[in-house]
Amino acid sequence: MSAGEQRIATSVLVIGGGGSGLRAAIQLAEDGTDVLLVGKRPIADAHTTLAAGGINAALGTMDPADSWQQHAADTIKESYFLADPQTVRIVTEGAAGALADLQRWGMPFAREADGRISQRFFGAHTFRRTAFAGDYTGLEIQRTLVRRARELAIPIMDTMYVTRILTHDGMVFGAYGFDISAGTRYLVHADAVILATGGHTRIWRRTSSRRDENAGDSFRLALGAGARIRDPELVQFHPSGLIEPENAAGTLVSEAARGEGGVLRNRLGERFMERYDAARMELSTRDRVALAAYTEIKEGRGTPGGGVWLDVSHLPRETIMERLPRVYQTLMELQMLDITTTPIEIAPTAHYSMGGVWVRPEDHGTGIPGLFAIGEAASGLHGANRLGGNSLIELLVYGRIVGEATAEYSAGLAAQPRDARAVIEARDEVDQLLAADGPENVRSLQRAIRNTMTEHAGVVRDEAGVRAGLAKLNDIESAQTQIGVHPDLAGFQDLAHAFDLRASLIAARATMEAALERRETRGCHNRADFPAQDDSLQLNLVWSGPGRLEREPVAQTPVEIARLIREVSTAGKLVE
Ligand code: FUM
Repeated sequence: MSAGEQRIATSVLVIGGGGSGLRAAIQLAEDGTDVLLVGKRPIADAHTTLAAGGINAALGTMDPADSWQQHAADTIKESYFLADPQTVRIVTEGAAGALADLQRWGMPFAREADGRISQRFFGAHTFRRTAFAGDYTGLEIQRTLVRRARELAIPIMDTMYVTRILTHDGMVFGAYGFDISAGTRYLVHADAVILATGGHTRIWRRTSSRRDENAGDSFRLALGAGARIRDPELVQFHPSGLIEPENAAGTLVSEAARGEGGVLRNRLGERFMERYDAARMELSTRDRVALAAYTEIKEGRGTPGGGVWLDVSHLPRETIMERLPRVYQTLMELQMLDITTTPIEIAPTAHYSMGGVWVRPEDHGTGIPGLFAIGEAASGLHGANRLGGNSLIELLVYGRIVGEATAEYSAGLAAQPRDARAVIEARDEVDQLLAADGPENVRSLQRAIRNTMTEHAGVVRDEAGVRAGLAKLNDIESAQTQIGVHPDLAGFQDLAHAFDLRASLIAARATMEAALERRETRGCHNRADFPAQDDSLQLNLVWSGPGRLEREPVAQTPVEIARLIREVSTAGKLVE
C-alpha cells in the first residue's frame, strides 16, 4: 500500500454525483444496502443542475389524451428507430411514478392555478408533457435529491477522481482514485460499481458542458473494465448555444425559450424554419432545428457573430421572468443583454451523448459482472435524436432500477475475488502520471481535441473530413505520451486533467470511428456524402476499442406503440 492511501469498503460504489447517481444511491440506502457515492464535482453543482427546461411524463394534466404509450411512440419515432423499445417502455411507463417520488421529496414543480402540475410543449412531443420548475428544473431536481440523500445520511465524497474500475477475471471488485484537493489515494472495495459519469460532449469546442465535465470519463472507465460503447457518434447538437463570450461558448439557452413562443430568424429577418419544417416551425425536433441553423449560417444568412437570432422579446415580460428566469439571468450575466427587448445570437452546441456505455435494458448491467451504467453514461433510450426532457426522466427511472439491481447483485454474491495485481497497476498508473515531466501541455492537447472534433466531426460530417480528423487524433495521441503533470499547492487538478485527456482521446476516437461507419444521415448524424437515411443501417454500432466496431440489431417496436407513430415529412433533413 502506498503512503497516503486509504482503504474503504462498501457494497455498492456509485461514481458520479449528478441526478442518476444520487437517485441510485437513494434507492440503495432506502433498501438498506451499504452505498458510497463519489464524484469529482461539488455535489450541489453536478452537471444535472444545468438541465434547464423540463422533465417528461405523460401525466395528462394539460392534455388528457396523453399516455405513456404516446410518449413511447414519440420517443421511438424521434430516435429514428434506433432506440431500444424495451428501454423506452420502461422509462415512459415508469415516468409518472418517478415524478411522484420527486414530489414526495419536495420538488417545487410549476403548477397551474388549480394546483395541477404544469406541463409545457417541448419540440416534437405530441402533447404538453414536460413538467418544469421555471427553467431551473435540473437544479431543483438536484437540490431535491441531495436533500433526500442527506436525510438518509448517504456518505458522499465529492472531491474523488476515479482513475480505474478494478476487476479480477472480468468481475468488478472496486475502484481506485485520488482526492483532487489533497492527492490522497483511495482503494475502494465494492461488490458492484455504478457508472453515473456523464457523457463526452466537452470534446467539442462549443458545448453546453462546463470545463472539466463530460470529458468522456464513462468511456475510459467502462472500456478499461472490458465494457463496450454503443453509438458514440450519436451526439445531440442543441440548436441554441451562446456564441459569446468565448470562454462560455455553447452555454445553453433552453428549448423552453422556443416552447414558450420564441422565434428563430436569420440575418435577413426570415423565420427560416419555414423552409425546414413548416408544420412545426421552432418546435421541430432538435436535430432539424440545429441543422437548419447550421445551414443558414453556412449559406451566408447568419448573424454578424456567426449564428442566428432567437427572439423572445415579443413575449410578455412576466412570461419571461416566470418561465425563463435562467435564460434572462444568463444573458444578463454573460452579455449584459436584456432578452425582454433584444434577440439572442445563438448557434448549435454539443449538448448530449445519446450513445454511451452498452447496457441491458432490464437492469443497465454492462455485461461485466458488477458493473452498471446510468444516465448520460448509458445508452439505449435516445437513438439518433433525443427528445428534450427525456434525459431527466431517464435518470430517475433507471436510477431506481439500477439501485435495486445492484442491491440484489450485492446480496447474491457468496464471495468476491480480488486481485492484487489490478491494484498495483492502478497505483502505477497514477505514479507514472505524477512523474510525467514532458514538454506537452495537457490543456493545449485538450483544446486540440476540441478543435479537431469541431472541424471534423461536428453537425455535418463526411468521409474525408473524419479521416483527416482521425489522422490529427493520432498526432495528439503521440503528443500525449510527452505531457508534464504538475500538481501544486492548489491541489491535484493537473493530474485529473491528465486522466480527462486520456478519456477524451478515447471518446474522440470512438466517435470518429463510428461516424465513419455510419454512412447515412440519420437524426443528429448528418453525412454530407450520404445525405439519405439507409434502412440497412437501422442498427446500433458497438465499439470495443480502436478498430473494433460491431453492428447490433435494434429490437422491433411493439405494435401497440408502432400504431401511434405519426409520419413526419423528411423535408429539411437534407444536407448540403
Ligand atoms: O433546452 C433544454 O432545456 C434542454 C433540455 C434537455 O436537454 O432535456
